[in-house]
Amino acid sequence: MDKLHLKDLRKSIHQELLPNLKLESVDPHEPVLVLYLPEPWKLVGRGNYAAVVYHPEYPEEVVKIYAPGRAGFEEEWEVYKRLGSHPAYSQCVYAHEGLLVLKRLHGITLYDCMHHGIRIPPRVIRDIDSALNYARDCGLFPHDIHGRNVMMHRGRGLVVDVSDFLHMDKCHKWKHLKQAYYCLYLPIFYPLKVQVSYSILNKVRRTYRRISHWQRKKNMICERQSNCITESIK
Ligand SMILES: Nc1ncnc2c1ncn2[C@@H]1O[C@H](COP(=O)(O)OP(=O)(O)OP(=O)(O)O)[C@@H](O)[C@H]1O
Ligand SMILES: [Mg+2]
Repeated sequence: MDKLHLKDLRKSIHQELLPNLKLESVDPHEPVLVLYLPEPWKLVGRGNYAAVVYHPEYPEEVVKIYAPGRAGFEEEWEVYKRLGSHPAYSQCVYAHEGLLVLKRLHGITLYDCMHHGIRIPPRVIRDIDSALNYARDCGLFPHDIHGRNVMMHRGRGLVVDVSDFLHMDKCHKWKHLKQAYYCLYLPIFYPLKVQVSYSILNKVRRTYRRISHWQRKKNMICERQSNCITESIK
């Protein structure tokens, strides 16, 4: 991206987008709400932390804006610095107080593929696996890899959200997603091109979150109990 182009985009962000944008995070477990997006900016996607938009005159870049009160922008910037250049990841070309200008990744999230009944070939899963291994080689910890954070473009897999890759605690989302892919999706959904409504996908997402929360709590209690037993034996 040349310097002049980036300068114009930055001007547009600071003069048109930021003074008028109305963004809110109502529930930390649900996507942020974009209450007002000034013309001619267009919405690309929403996560639980941020909204992602683009300007039609700069179609190869997106602007990720964190909702007020949602932390993580500095960490995400740091992750992009460590990742450098890799075909499965975006790159950060500008960062400023809660916003990142990222290279736009084209394609469709695996979540939306499920909704539209678009086939996800195994190569996409393998590409994502190798991109996550690359991140580990860069000293990062792939985290929060769910269906809206991975994309497919021309049959290849992409990782669209790296914001939690500095978190060292274990995250099993990608492992579970892969299990569901090979055990359920490939034999049933793939050949039949099954379309799943967003309400069902959301129910699955919320149920998964509740189960993993409960599982984490149970593990903590078990750990505490075994520590007590060890202490009492000493
Ligand atoms: N570089 C990009 N190119 C194209 N689309 C993108 C890009 N980054 C994000 N998006 C889109 O915006 C959506 C939200 O972005 P992102 O996942 O980074 O937000 P988040 O709030 O950090 O998400 P989460 O809830 O997973 O923490 C993504 O699901 C994707 O559809
Ligand atoms: Mg996300």
